[in-house]
Amino acid sequence: MKDCLMDLYSRYREWILKNEFENEIKRCFRLGEISHKYGETIVYPTIVRIGLSVNCLEAVLNLPRGFNPEDVAKKSWVFNQSFGENVELKRVSAKTFILYVMSINPFKETIIYNYENIYSEIMKYDLPIYVGITARGGSFSYDMVEQPHLLIAGETGSGKSVLLRTIVTTLLLSKSVNELQMYMFDMKKSEFFLYKRIPQVKIVTHEKSKIKSCFNELKKEMGLRGDLLEQYEVSHVNELPKEIRPPFITIFIDEFSLIDDKLIYDLLQQIAAIGRALGVFVILSTQRPSAKILEGELKVHLTVRIGGRVQDGTNSRIIIDTEGCETLTTSGHMKAKTTKGIIDVKVPLLKVEHAKSILEPYKLPNEEIAEKKVEFEIPLKSAKKVSTNKIKKSKVIVWSDFK
Ligand SMILES: Nc1ncnc2c1ncn2[C@@H]1O[C@H](COP(=O)(O)OP(=O)(O)OP(=O)(O)O)[C@@H](O)[C@H]1O
Ligand SMILES: [Mg+2]
Repeated sequence: MKDCLMDLYSRYREWILKNEFENEIKRCFRLGEISHKYGETIVYPTIVRIGLSVNCLEAVLNLPRGFNPEDVAKKSWVFNQSFGENVELKRVSAKTFILYVMSINPFKETIIYNYENIYSEIMKYDLPIYVGITARGGSFSYDMVEQPHLLIAGETGSGKSVLLRTIVTTLLLSKSVNELQMYMFDMKKSEFFLYKRIPQVKIVTHEKSKIKSCFNELKKEMGLRGDLLEQYEVSHVNELPKEIRPPFITIFIDEFSLIDDKLIYDLLQQIAAIGRALGVFVILSTQRPSAKILEGELKVHLTVRIGGRVQDGTNSRIIIDTEGCETLTTSGHMKAKTTKGIIDVKVPLLKVEHAKSILEPYKLPNEEIAEKKVEFEIPLKSAKKVSTNKIKKSKVIVWSDFK
C-alpha cells in the first residue's frame, strides 16, 4: 500500500513538473516572439512531447509551415533567461527542435570515477571502453571489438592521462586474465608503474628494445590467430569455440610520438590494420597530434579519436576531422569522433592515488611474480592442430625477458 502511494505521489510530481515546464516554454515563445503570423492569427511551435530523465528535461518542438528554423535557433537566449545556462536547443530537422534543460552542466563540474555507477552499462560489451558523461547526463561508452583502435590527443593538462587511467582501470575491473591481456608502453615513464603486478598486465616498459621484441612477438601471435580463423572458417576470434578463444590483447602507448622508430611504427600500423578480427587493439595517446605519424595510414584505422583542448582548429581537425577541440576550456572535457559522429564528453576524474587503492587488491605479491617465470606468455592456440584437445600453449614472451 505504502509503495503504491509513493508511486502515485512521484507520478503526480512528474505530471506537475512536466506541466510547469510546458507552460514556461510557451511563455518563452511569447516573450521571444517565436511565432508566425497567418493573417490575424499568431501561431507558435507545437510542443509534441515532454520527457524527463534524472538530469534533464526535454521538449520536442515542431515548427508549423512558414517558420524559419534559423530565426528560432537565434532566439535560444530566451530559454537561457528562463531556465539558466544549462540549456541546449538542438535542431534535428528543418521543422523539429529539441530543447534540453539540464540540472547540471557536466562540463563545468568534476565528476569522480566510480566503477559501481558504470558497471551495469559496460557489462554488455566484450571489451568495454568507458569514456564519461555526455551533455545530457547520459554516458558515453562503447565496445572496442566493434569500434577498434583508439587515439587520445590534446595539449598538456587536457586530461589524456586521466582518461587512460579511467579506461585501463575499467578494463581491469571488468575483464579477467583469461579474457584480456595488456601491454603498456609508457614513453614518458610517468605512471604506468601503477599497473605493474596486475595479472592481466603482461608488461610495463619504456625501453625501445623491449617494445620492439614485444611487437615482433605480437606479430607472430597475430599470424597464428589468423591461421586459427582460417582453420575454423570464422572471421573474428569471438566466433571461435569458447575453449580455444584467445584473450583480447590491448596495447597502450602513452606519448607514442616519442617512440621514433620506423620498425615499431610499421608494426603498429600493421596491428592497427589487421588487429580487429584477431582481437588485438591499440590505444594511443599523444600531446602532439600534428606529428607526422598521424597523417599517415595509421589514423585511418583509429576508428575512435578523442581530442582534449588544443591550440587551434588545425590541430583539432587532425584529431577529430573537424574544428571544436580548440574551444574546450576545462580539463577532461573532450570531443570524441566515433562511427556515429562527434560526441562531447566529460571524463570522470580518477587520480593516481585513487586508482592505486582500487587496484591494490588485484595485485600479485612481489614474490609470486618472481616465481612465475613463464607467466607472461600469450596462450596461443597451435594453428596446426584443429582438434581443440590437442591445442598447446606456446610460450611467446617470458617475464624474465623484461625484468
Ligand atoms: N576529467 C577530469 N576532471 C577533472 N579534472 C581533470 C580531469 N582530467 C584532468 N584533470 C585535471 O588536469 C590535470 C592534468 O590532467 P592529465 O594529467 O590527464 O593531463 P595530460 O593531458 O595527460 O597532460 P600531459 O600531456 O602533460 O601528460 C589533472 O591532474 C587534473 O587536475
Ligand atoms: Mg599525461
